[in-house]
Amino acid sequence: MRICVIGLGYVGAVTAVCLARDGNQVLGIDLDPTKIDLLKRGQAPIIEEGLQEVTLAAAQSGRLEVASEVDARIATCDLIFVCVGTPSAPNGSQNLAAVERVAQQIGAALKSASGFPIVVMRSTIYPGTTDTFVQPLLEASSGKKANVDFGLCFQPEFLREGSSIKDFYKPPFTIVGSNSDKPVAVVRELFKALPGEFIVTSTRNAEMMKLACNAFHAMKVSFANEVGRLGRSLGVDARAVMDLLCRDTSLNISPAYLRPGFAFGGSCLPKDLRALLYMAKRNDVELPLLKGIADSNVDHIDHALTLIRASGNRKVGMIGLSFKAGTDDLRESPLVTLAEQLIGKGYELKIYDPAVSLARLIGANKRYIQQTIPHIESLLTDDLAATGAYGEVIVVGHRSNEIDAAVGGWLKAGKHVVDLAGVNGAGNANYAGVCW
Ligand SMILES: NC(=O)c1ccc[n+]([C@@H]2O[C@H](COP(=O)([O-])OP(=O)(O)OC[C@H]3O[C@@H](n4cnc5c(N)ncnc54)[C@H](O)[C@@H]3O)[C@@H](O)[C@H]2O)c1
Repeated sequence: MRICVIGLGYVGAVTAVCLARDGNQVLGIDLDPTKIDLLKRGQAPIIEEGLQEVTLAAAQSGRLEVASEVDARIATCDLIFVCVGTPSAPNGSQNLAAVERVAQQIGAALKSASGFPIVVMRSTIYPGTTDTFVQPLLEASSGKKANVDFGLCFQPEFLREGSSIKDFYKPPFTIVGSNSDKPVAVVRELFKALPGEFIVTSTRNAEMMKLACNAFHAMKVSFANEVGRLGRSLGVDARAVMDLLCRDTSLNISPAYLRPGFAFGGSCLPKDLRALLYMAKRNDVELPLLKGIADSNVDHIDHALTLIRASGNRKVGMIGLSFKAGTDDLRESPLVTLAEQLIGKGYELKIYDPAVSLARLIGANKRYIQQTIPHIESLLTDDLAATGAYGEVIVVGHRSNEIDAAVGGWLKAGKHVVDLAGVNGAGNANYAGVCW
């Protein structure tokens, strides 16, 4: 294929030389004259393991051309990869100046395009940037329409500096965010030899996913470091602890606990997090990330409360009370906290939870609910339909087949649904998901 790569930094240089090595005709463009000079001489513009050899081979093959300005040649390319930097502005926002300038330049060059060049955004950008920033710029400067005269998509890059060539050829997966099929087909063809799944999603999902990945990586580093600092203060080698932690691939290094939903609770997570933070306090160890987890959980419950309040209704039908469906453990259930707060604010409640029977509750569990909501008995019902009929707003905290089946009827009857559990109601004006 004929490919243009704009921005020859860590991402762009690796992309350009690898694609040239793989047999594509590549035009690399960068503002920086030093990088252009080096590449013309077959020298890698950045230090990366293996990059020098691949760069030399690409230059000698005659398949790698370079230029310091976008020019008319890009109009004949099948794919135009945008890999310019998106550095932080002083206030933390993303500086999109390079993306803006390049989009305008590409648009101007696309005026003379006769084929269907596809612009592939690879710079890490805010969700919505491809559709609401880049596309209008391209259309305004080219006078053409996206998905009619040219293609546009976002393909996040997952390479890491230091192992970028290896990462380029062995990505965890290839993701293309696009609102149209044609760009997807061409990108799929280009990368068909790569291992890993090829996944198509919306541009916004792909843009957000890349940012979420990096936040997740950063969080993992800080988590391990906080466990390390606390371990050190306790005479524990956290390297061994984290090695063990990582060996659990069913609950730890796995999708478990990684789905947006309602707050965590129960008899273990809040208690043990508090115990860890207490030890840190006692040993004068600052653990802002772990401390922030508890704050984040409180914020999440507050957010649910805000959604219920926003419905404008005072009668609440609450579905689920225990800390997760199928158990009667009420200790530190976030749904109990939510119910308690609603009661405190004068809301009227009926609560349905088939796993919770007051007559069967014993021990700490019983004491907890009696202390937290002393008149719980008068609120609990074992009748889902009656709870739905009672509530003007239905707060769905648990899922089951019967609950899932009831949601449509509640919405049809004009009730508001605040969904903490992931039932199906999206698209209805009276439906609000807690974080979707
Ligand atoms: N570095 C990584 O490991 C990595 C991994 C994945 C994604 N990303 C993302 O990819 C993007 C690029 O990252 P990078 O590390 O390669 O950046 P970089 O700063 O190393 O390279 C960016 C290049 O773009 C060039 N450039 C800027 N404006 C230009 C213009 N108008 N025309 C032509 N060239 C221009 C610069 O001269 C520079 O060489 C960023 O959005 C980054 O967040 C980086």
